[in-house]
Amino acid sequence: MTQRLVYFRSSVGRKMVLALFGLGLLGYLIMHLSANLLILGDNPQALDVYAHTLLSLGPLLIAIEIALALVFLVHIYLAVVITLQNRSARPDRYERVRDAGSPSKKNFSSKTMIYSGLVILVFVVLHVLHFKYAIFGGKEYTVMVDGEPIRAFSTLVMTSFQNPWISLAYIVGLIWVFFHLRHGFWSAFQTLGVHHPRLTPVIYSAGIVLAVVIAAGYVSIPVILYFGG
Ligand code: HEM
Repeated sequence: MTQRLVYFRSSVGRKMVLALFGLGLLGYLIMHLSANLLILGDNPQALDVYAHTLLSLGPLLIAIEIALALVFLVHIYLAVVITLQNRSARPDRYERVRDAGSPSKKNFSSKTMIYSGLVILVFVVLHVLHFKYAIFGGKEYTVMVDGEPIRAFSTLVMTSFQNPWISLAYIVGLIWVFFHLRHGFWSAFQTLGVHHPRLTPVIYSAGIVLAVVIAAGYVSIPVILYFGG
């Protein structure tokens, strides 16, 4: 037990926790996208029914939310600590952010991980206040489903994305999500020791495809709701 603690306090252990928690957050991002895409279907209220089902979990949902927030915060904390350690060991902050090209995996995404991560932190805080707590001019809409009033997140989302500035702000945030995933996915597997001459290029390409699909999926929501709504 003590040995395990020592391991996870080591630099390698910290990187592994960072990688594992990052992949966990990716899982959430995929689930959240699948639910949010319901808003673009024939029955946008399917999103409200889904959210209502989650809310009816009560204390279990609160426990899941606390766990999610902890995973997110520990991921950020470790990323900041490791970045600061790396910088003090190898002060290259004057190096220009440019693509090193093949075979190096250094590129804009890899060199801006800490910045894209911090932009995502700000994005998530504002986003949760915006949609979950309906701050920023929005209100908690309700809709009747089976004779019961439930929260209409779909109405809040649709109304919000009629505002071009809100849609644009989301799109900018989501572009940073793309950069973060593009490098983060591949990097997590490297940290976890998944190296193989044949597998590594597949994981690298899969990271790019995943980042494009996830970011495009999210971006499609404000774009379609703004232009089609
Ligand atoms: C167009 C894009 C997005 C839409 C329409 C959207 C929609 C929503 C809605 C309606 C909620 C409140 C209902 C709920 O709790 O599920 C919510 C909560 C949340 N969203 Fe998003 N979201 C988007 C993108 C994102 C992204 C990119 C992230 C992460 C980087 C994210 C992270 C979260 C988190 C952490 C919560 C709070 C979950 C909870 O407390 O249970 N969302 N989102």
